[in-house]
Amino acid sequence: MKQKGTRDILFDEMKIWQYVEENIRKICKEYNINEIRTPLFEATELYARGVGDETDIVNKEMYTFNDKGGRSITLRPELTAGVVRAYIENGLASTMSPLKLWYVGNMYRYEKMQKGRYREFAQFGMELFGSNSYLADVETICVSYELFKRLGLQDKVELSLNSIGCDKCRKEYIEKLREYVKPRLNNMCDNCKTRYEKNPMRILDCKEECCKKELENVPMITDYLCDECKSDFENVCKLLDEISIPYVVDKKIVRGLDYYNKTVYEYTAKDLGLAAGGGGRYDKLVEVLGGNSTPAVGFGLGMDRIIILLKEYGLCNNLTSNVDVYFAIIDDKAYAKAIEIVTKLRSLGIVVEYDICKRSFKSQLKYADKLNANFVCIIGEDELKNDECIIKKMSDGSQQTVKLDEKDIFESIK
Ligand code: HAM
Repeated sequence: MKQKGTRDILFDEMKIWQYVEENIRKICKEYNINEIRTPLFEATELYARGVGDETDIVNKEMYTFNDKGGRSITLRPELTAGVVRAYIENGLASTMSPLKLWYVGNMYRYEKMQKGRYREFAQFGMELFGSNSYLADVETICVSYELFKRLGLQDKVELSLNSIGCDKCRKEYIEKLREYVKPRLNNMCDNCKTRYEKNPMRILDCKEECCKKELENVPMITDYLCDECKSDFENVCKLLDEISIPYVVDKKIVRGLDYYNKTVYEYTAKDLGLAAGGGGRYDKLVEVLGGNSTPAVGFGLGMDRIIILLKEYGLCNNLTSNVDVYFAIIDDKAYAKAIEIVTKLRSLGIVVEYDICKRSFKSQLKYADKLNANFVCIIGEDELKNDECIIKKMSDGSQQTVKLDEKDIFESIK
């Protein structure tokens, strides 16, 4: 039995995945983003240091085990930390700066199951290293927004932005936040009581009604931003306005991973109540993980959730992949010649199938129909003798006899 939170993705849904991945590849090529693949598992310590050992992900959701050599290993719960490790270990800083990387890959979180929330899921992500300009924040937003746009989802997801400042402005803010929360803490949930001690900004993110009520007049980080953080955030917003990427400012966005600073953002499919993606700047992470201080910004979009949205809004209904031509072979002696022609047609980009079960002609035609074949190429004893074949157009049943070679067959099915 498959494990809770995992899924088999069968061929009909795979067509939608391929369609999304094709769009991702195309966009990343146009934006000159380099693909990176990192291991599925890393040392547990990477996530404790990188993502933050007080986050839900590290505290409650990781698949961690000791390998046979006694090392503590974790299945990656996200990819930013792994990409940063690879960036440092492979000396990528010296290759070019800024450097843009992208990935699509599975990750693992032991989460409570619900629609769109799995224990094995995939993200499309981008990480941009080496620019501390707000222009880099906008570049990552452009890439993520472009994917939603090409998939026809731009009106179905809302982009929310916030700035959570830098260490300097956050210090003063956290004091103010604790001051506000302290007298209210008794009425708040247990998680928030822990967050108050360890990670007070996460309190703002709490979904519990009792906490939301207590937080109605909570001070906001945006009122405590230093001049640099303030102007960076204003510049991000201004540029997004100028290039017509719609967004809302949501002062309560703090993100669930510890590495962020300054600009943070999330994409939400409001109607379905699903977080479709999130990202932001993480200027300290490269240094925290042992590299030279390097500003960075990136995002991760939930692939599984994008697929749900495409299905929900009927935006992936025309993805049937037809077979261009099916070779119905009625004479055993025709196989060698047929395979030779089929191979050449396939190399020309034509989708071809032929009978590999030695079925009756009638069953072969039935199968061709199931495959949605546009044409059937029939080779029987007479055709083989005359070096010919019959091309039958399945939509209207019309037939013509052509020479048994790939050029003539290619011409007749165009
Ligand atoms: P995250 O917000 O944890 O960010 O995840 C990004 C997206 O992954 C979510 O918005 C959601 O669409 C999808 N996702 C997360 N958990 C699940 C799940 N259990 N099942 C299905 N989909 C899920 C990160 O992971 C950061 N590393 C993003 C980032 C990259 N920030 C900077 N660079």
